[in-house]
Amino acid sequence: MGGRMGRHQRALQANFAKIPIETMNRRRLIALILPLVAISVGSLITGAYHPDRLQAKDDDEWTLRRMGELCTEEGVYFTGSGNCVNCHAPDPEGEALVDEYGNSVSPVQDWQATMMANSARDPFWQAKVDHEGLINPEHREAIENVCTACHAPQGFHEAHLTGTAGVNGYTMSDLMQDELGLDGVGCTGCHAIDDIGLAGRFNGDLPINPDHVAWGAFENPWDGLMSGQTGFIPAFGEHMRGSEVCASCHSLYTHTQDLEGEETGQVFFEQTTYLEWVNSAYNAENVQCQTCHMPLVEGGAIAATQPNWLFPQRFGRHHFVGGNAFMLKLMRDNAVLLNLSAAPSQFDSTISRTIHSLQRETALLHVRQLASAPEEWVFEVELENLVGHKFPSGYPARLAFLEFTLIGEKGDTLFQSGRWTSDVGIHGRDLGYEPHWDEISDPDQVQIYEMVLGDVAGQTTQVLERAAVVLKDNRLTPRGFSTMHPVHDTVQVGPMAALDLDFNRKDGNEGSGTDQIRYRIPATGADHTVQASVKLHYQAVPKRWVEALFEFSDESERIAAFESMYLDADRTPVVVATALGRGWSGFDPSVSSWKVAPNPVSNGQLMRLIPSNEALPQSIILLDARGRAIRELSTNEAFVGYAVQDLASGVYYVQLNFEEHSETIRWVKQ
Ligand code: HEC
Ligand code: HEC
Ligand code: HEC
Ligand code: HEC
Ligand code: HEC
Repeated sequence: MGGRMGRHQRALQANFAKIPIETMNRRRLIALILPLVAISVGSLITGAYHPDRLQAKDDDEWTLRRMGELCTEEGVYFTGSGNCVNCHAPDPEGEALVDEYGNSVSPVQDWQATMMANSARDPFWQAKVDHEGLINPEHREAIENVCTACHAPQGFHEAHLTGTAGVNGYTMSDLMQDELGLDGVGCTGCHAIDDIGLAGRFNGDLPINPDHVAWGAFENPWDGLMSGQTGFIPAFGEHMRGSEVCASCHSLYTHTQDLEGEETGQVFFEQTTYLEWVNSAYNAENVQCQTCHMPLVEGGAIAATQPNWLFPQRFGRHHFVGGNAFMLKLMRDNAVLLNLSAAPSQFDSTISRTIHSLQRETALLHVRQLASAPEEWVFEVELENLVGHKFPSGYPARLAFLEFTLIGEKGDTLFQSGRWTSDVGIHGRDLGYEPHWDEISDPDQVQIYEMVLGDVAGQTTQVLERAAVVLKDNRLTPRGFSTMHPVHDTVQVGPMAALDLDFNRKDGNEGSGTDQIRYRIPATGADHTVQASVKLHYQAVPKRWVEALFEFSDESERIAAFESMYLDADRTPVVVATALGRGWSGFDPSVSSWKVAPNPVSNGQLMRLIPSNEALPQSIILLDARGRAIRELSTNEAFVGYAVQDLASGVYYVQLNFEEHSETIRWVKQ
């Protein structure tokens, strides 16, 4: 073993020296020319969203140097991600590791600024580990040994497999001195996972290959250079294509402790992203975690920069974006302090992919008016989850909430639920926790989709190891989610949402992944028409969740450090979806034709239109009794009201011209 390591070490050093000398001058040139081309061509074709171009805009030289700062430590079972840079970092020739448009698809470049690459240096995580230890000092090291299993898998497994972990396992102080651990979910942290019982594993229990195999998803990789340089042999492992390889770290079960720190013997399912996916339609449809989180490059890509005669292979991009734009921004802004290797432009790319994914791939939102009594407005909002697990999923702090605003004719706010400001957070949110609502009629009620943990006493808790019961879990279920599924007991919908007849049910069928909620608002003003504006917001790290931690900031430097970064950060939630709807007094969706109201109209009154459906006419013409056009009405005149005192008494018509047809309504001026 010793001899082999020595040879790798030399080869590595030789190859590292190579990057700056051979490529830097060229790269400087590319860096100058690329941005101009990228902006003029790229933005014309695809509009604003283009994280790959964004990446190219930054100083490539710096980016490459930063990749050289990745961990190059070599362990017995794992090796640092810096040792993959030589052949899997962006190709200065622009031939390998590019898609058909020439955009870099380098796994090192993409992965380096993701949450997983930074999972061990993540300041929230570090602060939270301290928090759990401070609450329960007798178990501190044992707890740390649990937390590091998934957040610092290379360090954790290396220590356990080589027998160098202490009696209490692999702790935070071990991690702080261990580059392999601080490498986060590194390249070999995933690629060395063997295909042994993966679906049933949890808590970061991983079968690590003892012989330095780096499993990949394409067949017959050429191993002339890689094992010689890194000691790791590229090999085809079909398991790399399936969700099971993600299962163990994305299934987190805890052993409940009471308020004295004694284990109750109960197992609590804290994070069940993998099992939520198992209980979804995506599982049956062969839509794996990788399908969404590692999008395949169309036409494949050449997987390595050396040798120069390779041909394109199946290639999954290492995007790994979820919803955590907040922490990615926080880490970008504190990268120097946190000693993170990724360049700001790399973080920017991951952040814009995250926001794009939240806004385009996460949820659909609709709003429509329902029939109501004259003294109220009733709207129905429908959400549909588009992701392969619950939304939100993962860490129990994540939440989504609805902001519903009713706007009157003059633009005044008539009603609002779910307003957010940085000082208060979500307005109207109850102190303990907000119930799940099926109908909201008071501005103090707000729909929040979240999981709320309760301790043995039934009180809400943010202490992970105290979680004993689910007080609330109304996170939107994935399409196909069923209460009859064998894993249902691990991913149950919480008590209140389970009683909501339209939660995950539509037209009587279970598994819709939808929820419907009615807003019933008293019509106090004189408005004949209103606008409903609905927004779905997402928050990864809400203030209320971390305040419990900050109470301990005197006792832990890591908590204090995170608190100051947190308070400095822009905490505005991400708007995931928006919907606008109109409301008309007297509207009844069950009546199939448009109406004029009142009819007849007398002198002091306004004549207005009440629609029968959501489609608006392109033009509205006022006709006299003989069918001659008198004038065209604006939408505002037609819906808010048109003063009729200038018209002589008699019969009139309103002609509505829709895209495909016209309708004429007869009405009488008294
Ligand atoms: C089974 C693997 C696993 C274990 C064990 C684990 N975590 Fe995590 N943790 C995760 C995953 C996966 C996420 C991200 C989920 C998401 O994005 O919602 C996460 C996210 C977090 C976050 C949020 C980080 C952020 O930036 O938003 C904190 C805090 C955290 N974990 C703390 C802990 C603590 C404390 C422990 C030990 C008690 C622990 N974790 C143990 C897998 C694990
Ligand atoms: C000296 C160059 C070199 C280095 C350094 C290198 N690789 Fe590779 N890698 C290659 C080549 C060449 C291939 C095969 C490409 C082909 O056959 O088209 C490859 C393929 C792979 C594959 C795909 C295997 C498959 O069948 O799908 C994985 C996974 C991989 N490398 C991971 C890594 C990891 C992890 C590291 C760092 C520990 C690393 N590589 C370092 C050159 C390298
Ligand atoms: C159909 C596409 C799809 C599939 C399949 C899918 N995801 Fe996701 N996932 C998303 C989208 C979109 C988001 C961002 C919205 C969100 O935060 O939930 C996301 C978010 C996440 C998050 C962040 C959690 C949160 O709510 O902030 C984690 C962790 C995650 N996915 C892991 C997985 C794992 C593990 C699998 C496989 C078991 C998987 N995903 C399958 C689309 C998918
Ligand atoms: C979270 C787990 C994970 C991490 C971390 C990870 N990979 Fe991968 N990698 C995968 C999976 C899964 C695939 C297969 C994707 C596919 O083709 O569906 C893959 C594929 C590859 C491939 C072959 C292309 C392909 O799609 O078959 C290469 C090369 C590679 N990874 C290199 C790396 C390098 C270098 C790093 C570190 C910078 C890294 N990976 C980090 C999971 C990971
Ligand atoms: C060795 C453990 C491990 C494995 C294997 C693993 N993950 Fe993760 N993953 C984590 C941890 C830990 C985090 C949370 C990091 C943090 O927030 O600090 C995470 C976070 C994520 C996120 C959330 C990112 C965000 O912005 O919200 C996504 C998405 C994700 N993983 C997808 C995957 C997919 C897909 C796979 C399988 C190909 C996978 N993971 C395999 C440990 C792992």
